[in-house]
Amino acid sequence: MRNILVTNALPYANGHLHLGHMLGYIQSDIWVRFQKMRGNQCHFVCGSDTHGTPIMLKAQNAGIKPEKLVEQMSQSHRDDFIDFEVEFDNYHSTHHPLNQEIVEQIYLKLKASHLIEMREIAQAYDPKAKMFLPDRFVKGTCPKCKAEDQYGDSCEVCSATYSPIDLINPKSVVTGETPIQKNSEHFFFKLSKLSEDIHKWMKHTKALQPEVQNKLKEWFEFGLQDWNISRDAPYFGFPIPGTNEQKYFYVWLDAPMGYIASFKDLCNRAGIDFESYWKKDSQAELYHFIGKDIIYFHALFWPAILNAVNYRTPTGIFANGFLTVNGKKMSKSRGTFIAARTYLHHLKAEYLRYYFASKLTPRIDDIDLNLEDFVQKVNSDVVGKVVNIASRCAGFINKQFNGVLASHIQDQQIVERFHAMHEEITQLFEKRDFAQALRIIMNLADQANQYIDYHKPWQLNKTEGHEALVHDVCSLGINLFKIIIGYLKPIMPELTLKAEGFLNINQMQWAEIPNLLFNHKINAFKPLIDRVEAEKIELIIEETKKMQTEAMSVKETQKAQVTKNSLNIADEIKIDDFLKVDLRIAKIIEADHVEGSDKLLRLKLDLGQEQRQVFSGIKSAYSPEKLVGKHTVVVANLAPRKMRFGISEGMVLCAGEGDSLYLLEPDEGALPGMRIG
Ligand code: 2FM
Ligand code: ZN
Repeated sequence: MRNILVTNALPYANGHLHLGHMLGYIQSDIWVRFQKMRGNQCHFVCGSDTHGTPIMLKAQNAGIKPEKLVEQMSQSHRDDFIDFEVEFDNYHSTHHPLNQEIVEQIYLKLKASHLIEMREIAQAYDPKAKMFLPDRFVKGTCPKCKAEDQYGDSCEVCSATYSPIDLINPKSVVTGETPIQKNSEHFFFKLSKLSEDIHKWMKHTKALQPEVQNKLKEWFEFGLQDWNISRDAPYFGFPIPGTNEQKYFYVWLDAPMGYIASFKDLCNRAGIDFESYWKKDSQAELYHFIGKDIIYFHALFWPAILNAVNYRTPTGIFANGFLTVNGKKMSKSRGTFIAARTYLHHLKAEYLRYYFASKLTPRIDDIDLNLEDFVQKVNSDVVGKVVNIASRCAGFINKQFNGVLASHIQDQQIVERFHAMHEEITQLFEKRDFAQALRIIMNLADQANQYIDYHKPWQLNKTEGHEALVHDVCSLGINLFKIIIGYLKPIMPELTLKAEGFLNINQMQWAEIPNLLFNHKINAFKPLIDRVEAEKIELIIEETKKMQTEAMSVKETQKAQVTKNSLNIADEIKIDDFLKVDLRIAKIIEADHVEGSDKLLRLKLDLGQEQRQVFSGIKSAYSPEKLVGKHTVVVANLAPRKMRFGISEGMVLCAGEGDSLYLLEPDEGALPGMRIG
């Protein structure tokens, strides 16, 4: 028995899953189910990838905390996985303290091994949002081909790669401001120092597909660059120890460590020996299923880190291609950017599991979901070939032979032909060549149907003296059906479960698939699966387009709301009225939670000549530690207010509402006590 740990790329918890995602998850799920059926100890873990700027900003726009967004998305992803029959043994989160512990441990080991270096670098900075901008958050005109509206790292029109400062007329996606260049200290993982080790690993490992190996060679020829693993605050992630929450680990550092955390969590609950899977000389196998866009992180950085901290490296890294629909990139306007849930509103997961399996190979080529071919193939293979075998034979067995199968084999040759394929099908599953395995399995289904066609039990049945032959032929038909269904079990678990119910057998193990049933009572046959109705495809496309239109109009409504708010200005006042309000600069010198209040924070303000206590309803947007040291604006002549928790001597100014509150901060240099006006 092998000990196997399988991971699938952790999905970002900032958007819903679509069919492109499901391709990878279905592939790994089929492989895991196959391993489990073979009796191997196989653990399958996943979880939410929670950190990074996009998640932080998306939560901000929605007026909720990133933790809340992550929780909501994680739940939606889990629901999709369950309904697509992707069955993880554990679903965790990279934001979990268990992961933080692992990330910090690994980071400190890297540091102790002198593999972390500080360097000052210049980056695009949005002065209005007061944040450094990831490349994808700067847009402008491509310096090479002059195409407008291109991202800060590469041009989608001419494929040129550059850095955000090279863009013509760059703008921050967050505020529309022109970014400036600002220097900041960063932590670099010294990949260049490990070049030789990684090269050695790459040359000897069997973990990589040939295409991936070639890519790695290219990167080596180019020379390995050190990797910036830090990001400046504000950032949703884990703070780097010793940086006073000013620097955070880059999402891509802690994401793969989420594999370890998810497995550790499983071990803690299920009593599995964690060490035996991750120690340097582990005999257990470790496989990462990923999309081809994240090879760099998994085949280069990840083994380098694992090696450097004396953990085992992966046994296999399996990249799959992208999903195209009808030969083209998935498109929102064409209605082919299909959400996992939208598909499920109309069709069963197993149809798609079958279709994807029929296209999946160990290679990294893109895979096309041709919607017409999908309907045709599922109907003809699953319904027309496989289920048909059982439905043609079951009636005779049940009506005429009391549901009991014959005691011997009518045609030894066909059974031998089936048995002869067992090893090859097994090897094809092992190699993840599901497409080739299915070609063989469907060929077996054709042979079974031809066998029944040849004997024509429906005709034999009309002529006397042929009862025994009808019994034998239909019994063999049912047995051939059982073998085929066994091979389909990792791909279509629900269909198979129903078929096992009909066959009146226990859940099949892989080695039992070729076994035949003699003198065995089967159950009444009920239809196992319906045909795919072509109209459902139309409905899926329509629903996708409708969601797209609605999403656009929500964006427009939000924009209109901002405009409306900004126009909804209070009644006019005279300058004297305004001057009555004494606004002062204050420095926050203390900030604490208020026991018994879920809205308020207690702030101690320094106004230069005096100190004040102010209760402020900003708990939903700020943690006290983040506030200490900040300068802000206070209404200094507001009558003191007696509150349940003490006296509030002023009011600090904030923009926004709900969870989206923004404390006003003066420009650098303003001193406590200065009057504003
Ligand atoms: O590309 C992605 O969708 C990432 N969220 C995958 C992370 S995989 C692993 F490293 F966590
Ligand atoms: Zn260009």
